[in-house]
This record gives sequence, C-alpha cells and structure tokens, in this order.
Amino acid sequence: MENKGTFYITTPIYYPSDNLHIGHAYCSTAADSMARFKRMTGYDTYFLTGTDEHGQKIERKAKATGVTPQQYVDHIVDGIKDLWKLMDIEYDDFIRTTDERHVKCVQKVFKKLYDQGDIYKSEYEGWYCTPCESFWTELQLKDGCCPDCGRPVEKAKEESYFFRMSKYQDWMIQYIQEHPDFIQPASRANEMISNFLKPGLEDLCVSRTSIKWGIPVDFDPKHTVYVWVDALTNYISALGYGTDHDELYRKYWPADVHLVGKEIVRFHTIIWPIMLHAIGEPLPKQVFGHGWLVIDGKKMGKSVGNVVDPVVLCNRYSSDAVRYFLMREMPFGADGEFTLRSMLTRVNADLANDLGNLVSRTVAMIEKYFDSVLPAVGPTEEVDRTLWELALQTPDTVETSVNAFQFSQALGSIWKLVGECNRYIDITAPWILAKQEENRARLGTVLYTLAECVRRIAVMIAFVMPKTPARIFAQIGLEQEEEKTWASVTDGQFCHLRPGTRVAKGEALFPRLDIEKELVRDQAPAEPKQTDVPKQQAKQEKKGHSAPEFPAEIAIDDFAKVKLQVARVLACEKVEKSKKLLKLQLSLGKDGERQVVSGIAAWYTPEEMVGKQVVLVANLKPAKLAGIESQGMILCAATENDGKLKLMTVEPGMDDGAVIG
Ligand code: MSP
Repeated sequence: MENKGTFYITTPIYYPSDNLHIGHAYCSTAADSMARFKRMTGYDTYFLTGTDEHGQKIERKAKATGVTPQQYVDHIVDGIKDLWKLMDIEYDDFIRTTDERHVKCVQKVFKKLYDQGDIYKSEYEGWYCTPCESFWTELQLKDGCCPDCGRPVEKAKEESYFFRMSKYQDWMIQYIQEHPDFIQPASRANEMISNFLKPGLEDLCVSRTSIKWGIPVDFDPKHTVYVWVDALTNYISALGYGTDHDELYRKYWPADVHLVGKEIVRFHTIIWPIMLHAIGEPLPKQVFGHGWLVIDGKKMGKSVGNVVDPVVLCNRYSSDAVRYFLMREMPFGADGEFTLRSMLTRVNADLANDLGNLVSRTVAMIEKYFDSVLPAVGPTEEVDRTLWELALQTPDTVETSVNAFQFSQALGSIWKLVGECNRYIDITAPWILAKQEENRARLGTVLYTLAECVRRIAVMIAFVMPKTPARIFAQIGLEQEEEKTWASVTDGQFCHLRPGTRVAKGEALFPRLDIEKELVRDQAPAEPKQTDVPKQQAKQEKKGHSAPEFPAEIAIDDFAKVKLQVARVLACEKVEKSKKLLKLQLSLGKDGERQVVSGIAAWYTPEEMVGKQVVLVANLKPAKLAGIESQGMILCAATENDGKLKLMTVEPGMDDGAVIG
C-alpha cells in the first residue's frame, strides 16, 4: 500500500495516582483505534502515551503510603502498562515525566522562555486545587471551591516564576478563529474563547517552591516547574525535541491530533499552543476533546467513587468486546452513560447474535453443503450484486467516519453490512437451494458471497477489535496475509477468497451472555438509578398521560435545559408482558441511535411506527421501564374527548437529529 504520509497521535499522559478506570481506558482505546486505522490505511503512524508523575497530589499520596514518590509511581506505572497490554493498546512510545529525556527537555524549554523574557520572577498569591493541579483567582472560585471539580482549594503565596500568557491573548483568539479545525468538536472552541480567552488571560504561575516533587528549574533549583508546563511538554520531549537526536521530532511534529478529555481541553488549547508559539515551534494540527463516561450523569472518577475496573471487564468479557462497546455505544464527542447492562446488551446483540451468528452460519453451511470446501461463484442475481456493492462501498464510508472521530458511525456502517448479510441468508434461503442439485451452482454463489463478506468484515473491524479477525480468518481458512489488509477491501474487486479453501468451524466468537446473571455477580452499576423525572414519566404511563400540573410560567433558561430532537423510528416492537409499552429504536442522524420505551402501544402498532419522525426529549436521564432501558421520551398529547394519545410529528423534510427550539 502506498505511504500516505505521517500521522502522530497522542493520549493525555495519565496521573499514576491510582489504578486507571474504564473512563481512562476510553481515551486510550479511541487513540489506539485511530492509530491502528491510520496504520492499516497506509500512514506512517506514531502513537504516544505515558504518565504524568510529578506534582503535589503524587507527593502527598506517596507520603501517606510511606514510600518515596518515585517508588510510588513506579509501582502504578507497571500496572498501567499491564492494562494497556491487556487492552491491546499498541503505543509506539511510553513517556514518563520522570524520564531523564523529558526532564532535560522541560528545563530547556523553561530556560528558553526565561532567556527571551516570556518567563519572569514575581510572587504568587491565590488559590490552588491539588486534585486538578490548577491555579485559580478569587473571582474564578465557585462557592469558594475549585470551579472544575468542586473540591476545596488551598491558599498559596510564594515566590514564583510567571509565564507572560497575557501577551499572547489576542494572537491566540485569532489563531483559534482562523483555524476552525484546531479545536474539535467545534463547540469546544467557542467555550475556550468565551470562557477563558475573552475574559482576559492572566500571566500563569509556572513554578512552585513549596512542591518538591517536580522538575527543578535548573538555573534556580529551589523552584520546581508547574506540572502542566512539565506535562504538556511530553508531546515533544518524547520525540527528542531540542536534542541531537531529534529525527522523530522532525518527522512527526506537528502532531496530527492530541486526543484529550473535555476538562483538559483548555490546557491543550491555551497554555500549550502559547508555549509552542513562544518557542517558535508549530502548533498541533488538532486537539480533539472527547466526552466522559458518566454514571448516573456524574463523571466516572475516583473522587465520586463510581469507577469501573477495565481489568475485570476485559478478563470476563474479552478486551475486544470492551473495546467494541466503548467505541460503538456513544458518539465520541459527547458524554455517555456507562452501565454494565448496556454493555452486555450490546455484546449479545451485535457480537454474539449479529456477527457471531453470521460467521458460524456461513461456515456451518459450507461444511454441510460443500464438505467444508469453499465453492466457486456460479450464476449471480440482483440480490448478490446489491450485497457486493454494499461490501465494496463500506470501507469508504468507514474511512470517512473514522477520520472525523465518528467511531460509532464507522462501526454502524460495518454492522449495516453484517445485518444485510444476515438478511441475505434469509432471502436466498441456502437450505432450500441445497435441496435440488440443479441449484448447486447458485448455492455456491450464495455461500462464496457470504464468506467473502465475512472476510471483509473481519478486515474492517480490526482497528477496534484487534483479536477477533484472526479467529474469523481461521474459520474461513484464510491464510494469505495480503487478503487481510485494507488494500484487499478497497481495490474495487469483490472476489478475493480462493475457491477450494477448507473452512473449519471454531468456537463461538462471542458466547451469548445471561445478562441477569452477569449483573448479579458484577460490582459495576447495572443501570442508572431512577431519578425523579423518569419516575414521573413511568407514573404518567400508568395514569394514561393525565395532564401534569405546571408552574404558571418558567424562565427561558428552564426551557433551554430541555433538548428536543427530531428522531426517526428505525425499528419498533411490543414489550413482552406489557399492554402499554412499545420499544423503539430511533435514529438521531449523526448523533447516533437511541432506544426508547414509550406507553403508546394502545394507540399505535409497531408497524405503523417504523419510518415515522417523532419528537424526542433527548437529554432526559435514562430510566428503566419494564426492565428495559429507555434513553429519552417521545412526545405525545392526549385528545380531549377520549384521552387517546397522538404523537407529535414533524413537517416532512426535517433531518433526523435536527435540534428543535
Ligand atoms: N495528567 C493529566 C493530563 C496531562 S496531558 C499533558 C490528566 N490525567 S488524568 O489521568 O486525570 O486523565 C487522563 C485522561 O483521562 C483525560 O483526558 C481525562 O479526560 C480522561 N478521563 C478521566 N476520567 C474519564 C471519564 N470518566 N471518561 C472519559 N475520560 C476520562 O488529566
């Protein structure tokens, strides 16, 4: 495959203050998936991750444990590397901020900024949030606490060095405005400008004398470098910036993308670019701020005590299943509720049923009807050509989505092909073709088509599920390495597998899970607690939607909290043992899909619902109705005379996902 150029991607470097949770793994899985995809599609890719080991937080933890900070971090870093191995996070380099190469680089950058007058000595007086390692002014505090994490701050007053950020404020605003791709998703750019840049940038305190566990300022060693200045430099220190061996820096910098969680976008899009600009180096091409994994609406994190251990999940359900869920379930820029139930439901539906059954049925039929030998293509019909066409188009669709960090959409396109293959089995009914000898050549076409689609699906899922393809290739008897590559699904030719190859049925790719049993034995929260709003919703379902009482008036801000979106019903079925409930799968266009349970079964049949566009309360906290997760509510009104419910629908021509208001 032609070399398409370089691609440099980074994760944030993680604090080794505790074991990492599935929220951290989310960021690394996305970065790894992107790196694998770029490698597979012909880019010379470099993927950096690491650990952010200095600062007050680590200093205090080590003290409390009775070990030195270095001993403390060494132990945790080993665990982090084990986790990445378990999850197939295949980085090219792991930088630690305690590495000598990093320390030297930070000192060099600091000195350069000092020598050119961008860093000066003064006195700091203000507030410091140790968990966030952030400085705040009195005005920025929220109820006297850290505006980011809400925890108490500490007074700090000491001699410090300052970085002249104020000097670069106008340049920074202009840069962000002139480079719309620099901060993604775009809404985060507006947030940076209006919340941090427009109110005025103050010079940043960039050294501490009270914190010993840090990189000493080499020309004034009683000072240690502020942890964020230290940490951000990792992206270039790892490439040998400023040394005699800066080949990697020259090859890969500027980074194509820094992938970071949304709460640290501001460090990466204000402090970091100003530092780089001041030392005369180019800026990263993009900073992508992804959403959080939340539980009951709260960010998963040690301080809330709601963490889920990725090691437990990977050991129990396989790392490929965990990776698939993380990349499939939520649109990448937005927050996503993590529940074990939703993960297991996905694994059963998409992996055990859709993909697993497709592979096992295909191989089993070749075994049964052709004695395990892959048949050649015989006569083709419209139905085959339609599927071939979809299989040939899917890689392009996937590539477009992955390049926009829309992992969920990319997997959705692959699963569309999986679904169409399963439908193709139902339509062509190979078991009927097998009954008559004269249909043998036709049966060959059908089974060859399925095996070839399975090969293509295996190639395409590799960037998210690196272990599964080899298991699929073994079952369809594929050995040639060139037929496992991206080039082999993008050359415009459908038939790649060689007729005559022996297939061999293996173990089920993903055994079906008994979800209720799994939920009982796991420590992870099974589903969000019901909050008042969904309870009211459930109550209203019971009362047959009698009119609730409303306040006489509300402020526009109250209304602005409700996100209404146009949604299209993709599928709909009755909820077992319920006369009132229908379960609907809804499309929000580029915002993905939702499942909603609604009490309209008495007025609408599932068949009537499919294809309709409805109005969805999209940011309603998920709730369980009849044991099924409902991710929002669709709007209806009751008719005055008989209380019949009628759906709120929209004018034709509206986009799925369009925001109403
Ligand atoms: N050390 C800093 C980053 C310095 S980069 C120069 C840091 N470390 S962290 O360990 O607290 O977080 C690392 C990454 O994990 C961040 O991008 C953060 O957003 C992400 N996550 C932590 N909890 C998360 C969730 N619950 N969900 C998704 N991502 C989460 O910040």
